[in-house]
Amino acid sequence: KQPVTLPRLMAMKRQGNPIAMMTAYDYPSAQLTEEAGVDVILVGDSLGNVVLGYDTTVPVTLEDMIYHTKAVVRGAPHTMVVTDMPFATYRLGKEATLRNAARIMREGGAHAVKLEGGAELAEEVAVLVSAGIPVLAHLGLTPQSVHQIGGYKVQGKDAAEAEKLLADAKALEQAGAFGVVLELVTEPVAAAVTKSLQVPTIGIGAGRGCDGQVLVYHDMIRYGSGIRDKRMVKAYADVGETIRGAIAQYVDEVKNKQFPEARHGFPLDEKAEEAMST
Ligand code: KIV
Ligand code: NA
Repeated sequence: KQPVTLPRLMAMKRQGNPIAMMTAYDYPSAQLTEEAGVDVILVGDSLGNVVLGYDTTVPVTLEDMIYHTKAVVRGAPHTMVVTDMPFATYRLGKEATLRNAARIMREGGAHAVKLEGGAELAEEVAVLVSAGIPVLAHLGLTPQSVHQIGGYKVQGKDAAEAEKLLADAKALEQAGAFGVVLELVTEPVAAAVTKSLQVPTIGIGAGRGCDGQVLVYHDMIRYGSGIRDKRMVKAYADVGETIRGAIAQYVDEVKNKQFPEARHGFPLDEKAEEAMST
C-alpha cells in the first residue's frame, strides 16, 4: 500500500468519497491507525493537551513535533503524514517559516505541514508550496490563538464571520494549500466553504457537509483519565477504562501473590533458554 497522494485527495472530493483523517502521536498509535485504514494521519499539536498534559497547544515546540513525527512515520510507513507547525514557528517571515517547515519534512519525515490562520498566511503558504512542501490550512477555531479568541468557541455564526471564512479559504486555496481543516464551524458555513473550494475540506465539529473528517486519537477512544465528552467527538471505545481496569487487576494480583504464576517463570532445565527467545 502506498500513501495517498494529493491528486488522489482532490479526486476523492470530486467523486464524493469522504476522507478519513485521525491524529496519532507515537509508534503504536500510528501502527493501529494505519492498520485501521485511515487515509491521512495528522501529528497534531493537540499532543500538547492529550500526550504532554498542557492546558493549551501554545507550549508545544518544533522539537516536540519533530520527535513525535519521527515515531509516527516509523509506525505508519504507508500513510500520508501531515504535521502541525506549532505556535510561533511560522508568521516569522518567509525564510524562517520555510526553514522550520523544512525541518518537519527532512528530520521528522512528514509529507506535509498544517498551519492555523487565514488570508494573512497566503504568502508564507505560497513559499512553502513553491519549495515542495504541501500545506494543509486550518480555519475556524484555531487553538493556537485561544488566548486571543477567549475560549474554544464556535466560529461562523453570523454573515460577517461566514464572509471572512469564505474569503480566507479562497485565499489559502489560491496560495496553493491542498486542503482546509475547518474546526468548530457552523454546519451551513462549513458546507458553503466546502462548495466554494476545489480542494477538500476536513471538518472537526464542522457538521456533515465537509469532504472529510478528523478526530483526535485520545478523544475518540477515551484514552486518558477523565476525557471530557465534547459534542463534536464520538467516542468509539473507552480504552481508558480498559487500561485502568487491567492495571488495577495487575496491582491486585501482585499484592495477593496471584501473579506471576509458575508458567511465567523459568525452571532450571533445557526449556528455559527456548522460553526466553519466544
Ligand atoms: O492538533 C490537532 O489535533 C488538530 C486537529 C484537531 C485538526 O489540529
Ligand atoms: Na492542531
